Amino acid sequence: MTEIDQNRLHGRNILLIIGGGIAAYKSLDLIRRLRERGATVRVVMTRAAQEFITPLSAGAVAGGHAYVDLFDSRTEFDIGHIRLARDTDLVVVAPATADLMAKMAGGHADDLASTVLLATDKPTLIAPAMNPRMWSNAATRRNLAQLIADGVAIVGPNAGEMAELGEAGAGRMAEPLEIVAAVEARLAARHETIGPLSGRRVLVTAGPTHEPIDPVRYIANRSSGKQGFAIARAAAAAGAGVTLVAGPVALADPSGVTVIRVEGAREMLAEVERALPVDVAVFAAAVADWRVAEPGAQKLKKGASGTPKLALVENPDILATVAQHKSKRPRLVIGFAAETEHVIENARAKLDRKGCDWIVANDVSPATGIMGGERNSVHLITPDGVESWPNDAKQNVADMLVARIAATLAATEK
Ligand code: C5P
Repeated sequence: MTEIDQNRLHGRNILLIIGGGIAAYKSLDLIRRLRERGATVRVVMTRAAQEFITPLSAGAVAGGHAYVDLFDSRTEFDIGHIRLARDTDLVVVAPATADLMAKMAGGHADDLASTVLLATDKPTLIAPAMNPRMWSNAATRRNLAQLIADGVAIVGPNAGEMAELGEAGAGRMAEPLEIVAAVEARLAARHETIGPLSGRRVLVTAGPTHEPIDPVRYIANRSSGKQGFAIARAAAAAGAGVTLVAGPVALADPSGVTVIRVEGAREMLAEVERALPVDVAVFAAAVADWRVAEPGAQKLKKGASGTPKLALVENPDILATVAQHKSKRPRLVIGFAAETEHVIENARAKLDRKGCDWIVANDVSPATGIMGGERNSVHLITPDGVESWPNDAKQNVADMLVARIAATLAATEK
């Protein structure tokens, strides 16, 4: 293990609210990780959390008492629920169950955890954990959108196997070290949350899509997702509420961004539509143009029938769908154009064909090393003309693009 910086959270007070989910067992490790970095951790547990871990174990790991009851004279004698809510630098909810998120979004206060969440005036970070179907349910989506609009930061959930046998998808709580990183980022960003995109909603797509051929094979492309993730990070740093819909990539969630992981183009479109309305949509994903018409239900076998013929059908065009949306078209719709020749001409044509406002065009011919690399050279194409930006780190390109977005929104409002 790498050396732990014991001072990173030195002197910081964290209030950890543990909700009732199987992931609660990971919260004990989270407490330990926070404390070994110098933080003081106070713990509140919901009634349901106590079905998974005991207040005794949580209190022992935290080096104190785990608070469980609003009307517990000991809680009120020790500190009182209002001070519990206020005498902290950051409130962390992990695991944040669907029910706790709903209570937060609705402003309920019927137990110690929800009362503290309503009474706090401190920044709040949640680590959602639930069954994938509960996570994708429209009610949870609404609550999540409300929490983002209220300035709550989110870490995870991750995709993967669930505790229930045979269940998989987005819904696993972020790992303790990912939550620690989000805690550090949230504390560091505390004074910067008011930015040029405060109060705006930004949607970003990133990465490739995987289109199945059979259960084990797929069609993919070389997109790494780095540019799209950098844009999401930059928009969040500028104060926006950001949803990032990402195809399969090996990148960690940018902190403060709601990341929704998908596989294929149709799933990406569904998640994008679910995230609307937004003020700005940036389509940096390299969506596969085609998918296999009828993917094999079983692994295709070599055999007497010879080489399989893959019939392809066109995927929905996500950018064009959103740019031409009748009721929910974002104010600014930005597409990307990855070209290997005639970069600017092709990108200009794309602006008209897709109906978007800007195109960020780049040359991705193999010699440029842009696909998968750390740097990018882009041309920004707007109805007013073409700007060619210097070759720069993808994060700097993202920061410039976000600054441009903020300036344009501000100018068109005057
Ligand atoms: O048509 P082409 O793939 O070159 O256009 C690239 C732009 O369109 C990118 O912004 C990409 O994210 C978007 N796109 C999309 N859905 C598709 C194909 C491309 O959103 N099916």
